[in-house]
Amino acid sequence: MIKGIIFDLDGVITDTAHYHFIAWQNLAKEIGIEFDEVFNETLKGVSRMESLERILKLKNLNDKYTIEEKEALAHKKNEAYKKLINNITSKDLLPGIKTLLDDLKANNIKIALASASKNALSILNHLNITSYFDYIVDASKIANSKPAPDTFLDALNGLNLKADEVIGVEDANAGIESIKACNIKSIGINVKGDISLNSTKELTFDLLKTI
Ligand code: BG6
Ligand code: MG
Repeated sequence: MIKGIIFDLDGVITDTAHYHFIAWQNLAKEIGIEFDEVFNETLKGVSRMESLERILKLKNLNDKYTIEEKEALAHKKNEAYKKLINNITSKDLLPGIKTLLDDLKANNIKIALASASKNALSILNHLNITSYFDYIVDASKIANSKPAPDTFLDALNGLNLKADEVIGVEDANAGIESIKACNIKSIGINVKGDISLNSTKELTFDLLKTI
């Protein structure tokens, strides 16, 4: 049986992935760039500034803006995003997550959060689940964001466990790569992992017992 589990946040614990999409899409429109949900898949798990670079690349506008202007654009997106997530509550937990967290706690399985989001702690607080986590990665302190191993490695060290004692859960290819680079087994939600699931509904403690 695993001793720990490392969760991604956006798209795994709650559906904030959709709010990131809306906020980026609006910002992009303002500067003359349009993109759809298919392109949005390539932004999942990717840091705020890297997401902006990928959006600008759609129209080869990466050199049009100074670093300060890019920071202002990213800030604007984040302000819009924060408004969208301001009303989320525990009702916005994805199916099965609350039950799983309770089962993990009851069985002394350690729990970490490995999100690329600098809004992660605020979202956990909104969802009223912060106290479940034994360790929360501080994205602002991670040198290389996903797909680099740093985020999941920091979570692993934070839990004081070895790679083969934990499992990582992700909804983004960048995150699955990060998990793989740490030699941790992965569960992909709507994305290919060592185990692939179509919904968090399938992510049960009984399933974890079989790993
Ligand atoms: C990831 C999301 O969890 O966090 C990305 O999947 C997002 O879409 C990234 O860009 C950074 O989030 P934030 O909240 O710091 O802008
Ligand atoms: Mg995610």
